Amino acid sequence: SSRPSICFRPINPSDLERLEQIHRDIFPIRYESEFFQNVVNGGDILSWAAVDRSRPDGLSDELIGFVTAKIGPAKETEISDLIRYNSCKGEETLVYILTLGVVESYRKRGIAKLLIKEVIKYASSIPVCRGVYLHVIAHNSPAIRLYKRMSFRCVRRLHGFYIINGQHFDSFLFVYFINGS
Ligand code: ACO
Repeated sequence: SSRPSICFRPINPSDLERLEQIHRDIFPIRYESEFFQNVVNGGDILSWAAVDRSRPDGLSDELIGFVTAKIGPAKETEISDLIRYNSCKGEETLVYILTLGVVESYRKRGIAKLLIKEVIKYASSIPVCRGVYLHVIAHNSPAIRLYKRMSFRCVRRLHGFYIINGQHFDSFLFVYFINGS
């Protein structure tokens, strides 16, 4: 087969089934169908998809990775205390990454890094945006290494943040500060 040719594009309604399937396959947490509907229909959730244009047989547009995110007022977040406010510029915002994933056969090629870069580029283009933040379960070493490598700061450990099959797991809160925060 030919060399992978990775491209990034917005997520659209034709991605619905594949998006749900990948989430089911790689996350221990179940997401509501309302979440997926919001992502593919471009509701208030932002998203970027990775595809491999070199794949044959109509697979050249199939999702191999994605990142979903939300933007909102910094004052209403759990890291509001870490943000510098400057009221004359308008209301400060933060981007929150909801889910990030790459299918197994496409891992360790830098695709997740490029997806995060897309989010950072978008956030940096908004003058009032102060950063990008996310939660990650404490035992997810590959993801934690990725965020650290990309200059995210670990600002908090939240005890029992995730409940999976009745069991509690800690999470780390990572923040990438932008625009002088
Ligand atoms: N050749 C060899 N190695 C490479 C190359 C390359 N060309 N490019 C990158 N790498 C290495 C990186 O150095 C890194 O190495 P390390 O883990 O030893 O530090 C590793 O590959 C992974 O980096 P990326 O390729 O950028 O990341 P990847 O595309 O593999 O995706 C992810 C990482 C998203 C965590 C993936 O493992 C995944 O989908 N996991 C399951 C879902 C998940 O955990 N998602 C994050 C949860 S947190 C949240 O969603 C907010």
